[in-house]
Amino acid sequence: MDAIYFYTLAGEEVFVHIEHGICRLTFDRKCPDVCFVSTLIVNESSRQHGIGKQLLRAAELIAKRKCCNRVSLQVENNSWKKEWYKREGYDVIADGYDEGMIIMSKEF
Ligand SMILES: CC(C)(COP(=O)(O)OP(=O)(O)OC[C@H]1O[C@@H](n2cnc3c(N)ncnc32)[C@H](O)[C@@H]1OP(=O)(O)O)[C@@H](O)C(=O)NCCC(=O)NCCS
Repeated sequence: MDAIYFYTLAGEEVFVHIEHGICRLTFDRKCPDVCFVSTLIVNESSRQHGIGKQLLRAAELIAKRKCCNRVSLQVENNSWKKEWYKREGYDVIADGYDEGMIIMSKEF
């Protein structure tokens, strides 16, 4: 697993790579306690083999090392992914702001 760090005007972006997937974490220097999983994708042919979970956990480790105490993300409300994130320790913290979408968050 590799992590590539990019510095941006707003903060930092980290791309966590694994052979069949990628997770992007966004850090905003105005909110140092929280970071956002803005992309999490596993190649279609490699899904359901635990890669998504590995990527998410690696991203959380990076967030902890950067002293964030929360990871947040946006996901479709009526989707199996909501339960998937719940099993990984995420709670719904906001809904109704964007049709069909919710914000979920995990605190360390
Ligand atoms: C979401 C995503 C990253 C999951 O990656 P993955 O490697 O397939 O997931 P994992 O193998 O780690 O997790 C498998 C679990 O998810 C569940 N799952 C995976 N695909 C599913 C599907 N199509 N329908 C229902 N459940 C599904 C399985 O029940 C399994 O649960 P278990 O481990 O408790 O048995 C992947 O489906 C993906 O890239 N989707 C498209 C992009 C996307 O929607 N990203 C999320 C944006 S918030």
